[in-house]
Amino acid sequence: MTLIVHISDLHISDGDFDEEIFLDAVEEINNLNPDMIILTGDITNNGYHKQYERATKYLEMFEPPLFAIPGNHDVRNLGYQSFEELVGERSWKLTMDDNFTVIGLDSASPDENKGHVGTPQHMWLEHQLDECVINDNFSIVALHHHVIPIPQTGRERNVLSDAGDILKTLTTHEVDLVLCGHKHVPNIWKINNTLIVNAGSLCSHKLRGKIGNSFNIYNITDNEIEIYLNNIDDEKLLFGKYERNKL
Ligand SMILES: [Fe+2]
Ligand SMILES: [Fe+2]
Repeated sequence: MTLIVHISDLHISDGDFDEEIFLDAVEEINNLNPDMIILTGDITNNGYHKQYERATKYLEMFEPPLFAIPGNHDVRNLGYQSFEELVGERSWKLTMDDNFTVIGLDSASPDENKGHVGTPQHMWLEHQLDECVINDNFSIVALHHHVIPIPQTGRERNVLSDAGDILKTLTTHEVDLVLCGHKHVPNIWKINNTLIVNAGSLCSHKLRGKIGNSFNIYNITDNEIEIYLNNIDDEKLLFGKYERNKL
């Protein structure tokens, strides 16, 4: 069994960041002892270097290994440079136990809100996913921007500008899980054999209606994937349960 925690949209700043909720979330997540934490962007609110320095201290509180990609807020104000200096590579691939691959993509463009993967990164993704198919690996792709529109988020403005091509690559390679953030609304779509899951905001006040702060948990066994929506200091519910793609 593999346990993955998916967090997103911390928006660390003096404004809408809720430290108390963040600290509660850290405690909950550390107690779960997941195999890894995947953070799908908007770590900071403005990409300021000082916000990154602060964020680094907060992220160190997580005990499990954490892998992050940038969001649109992170690459403002030269924030992409600070991300590389203080968080890590903006796109990456990791493989566990020779049969489990996670790919992180940078869908953010400096000082723009809209998402874009772009041709070089798309070609690299294709190549990595070809290898996953050849090796029968369980595959996860993480990126900040949503690949398809999310309900309850009003007018669509920031979906990936190359969403159609990326979606085709993800579904034809039967990627098992696509993890996104950005809209601050948890959601699951299933397209063909690919689950596309959005996480809500972990600890920001930038929320819609009564949708609170939350993170997602993925419980992956040989046969199925269970997805739990974990509302901070509130109810935890089974968000979806799906059979694993047959190898
Ligand atoms: Fe955000
Ligand atoms: Fe965002």
